[in-house]
Amino acid sequence: MFAISPEELKKRIDAGKVGFMLDLRNEDEFAAWRIEGRSEIETINIPRTDFVGEEERYLVRLPQDRQIVTICAHGDSSRDSAEYLRNHGFDSVSLDGGMDAWSELYESRKISDRPDIYQIFRVARGCISHLVVSGSEAVVIDAVRHVDRFIGLAYSLRARIVHVLDTHLHADHISGGLEVAGRTGAHYHISPDDAGAAAYSYQPLRDGDVVSFGRSRIETFVSPGHTPGSTSFLLDERFLFTGDTVMKASIGRPDLGGRVDEWAHLLYDTLFQRYEKFRDDLIVLPTHAASLREQDADGVVRTTIGDARKSGDLYQKKEFPEFLAFIKESLPESPDRYQEIRKVNLGLLDPDEAKRKELEIGKNLCGMAKTA
Ligand SMILES: [Fe+2]
Repeated sequence: MFAISPEELKKRIDAGKVGFMLDLRNEDEFAAWRIEGRSEIETINIPRTDFVGEEERYLVRLPQDRQIVTICAHGDSSRDSAEYLRNHGFDSVSLDGGMDAWSELYESRKISDRPDIYQIFRVARGCISHLVVSGSEAVVIDAVRHVDRFIGLAYSLRARIVHVLDTHLHADHISGGLEVAGRTGAHYHISPDDAGAAAYSYQPLRDGDVVSFGRSRIETFVSPGHTPGSTSFLLDERFLFTGDTVMKASIGRPDLGGRVDEWAHLLYDTLFQRYEKFRDDLIVLPTHAASLREQDADGVVRTTIGDARKSGDLYQKKEFPEFLAFIKESLPESPDRYQEIRKVNLGLLDPDEAKRKELEIGKNLCGMAKTA
């Protein structure tokens, strides 16, 4: 009763019913990553080490007319602080399991019929995977590492996963693609331009390849830039899985390989030449969102090629020098752990669960910071 689950918190955030949050993590953790909603939620950060024992000093900063959700890393100190606040006349609940639990919150939504597409959204990180079911067969695109999400969903739909596709070698999160394939007997596909150094075998994706399943077909279009092997998948001429090439409010950053000029050129050619052939009404299903604001009212992250072309400054920069200059001034930080995650995704490192969790702390930073 005095704790709130991540699922319930997300529901209340979506309904605009969270009025105030008190985040007790240290300042660095808070600056790097915090709970956000589709609209602004008033949040203050008072590190636990300052707050505990000195609570009275801070009470004037807390509202008495709204519920206060207390948050910490694992849900322990937030529980104690919520109790302290209740004992002092405040309405307060603690986020059960803290940011650890929030980090593993997923939402699954069915977003189309025939083929049946399910969007699986990792809320805290903005990572998006898709399961597509056609007839009795299924394909998973950009699986994250909590693979039971996909295997369980396919099982409940009585569909057999026959192909697993990664749009690119991810740097921000650990892919579950190879594991899903291994556990289901499906084929795992990725571009050799990204996975050339991989320690495992895979089906190399090449331009124009067609992956058939059930009554559906996926056509492969190489779309380099975010990575050299970035690939887009056109499903039944209607849906375009863009990976991190085109997102709803951004485009994929081309600097993660340390060769920004070269990769930016590839990205420029992809956006203004290779993507030229795509109709405006194609529905874009990306692999990342930078914030929950990219969810539609129904919770789905989607756009169209036409809307992506119209929105965001980066898609307007028609001359390459201007495009490159804008990219360089908009680049977000590049966390060191991204190089380690790439090695995990190549099968060159095999960290334990605690390390995997640590590598995935925080939001994804796959898109450009400034897009509009
Ligand atoms: Fe990416």
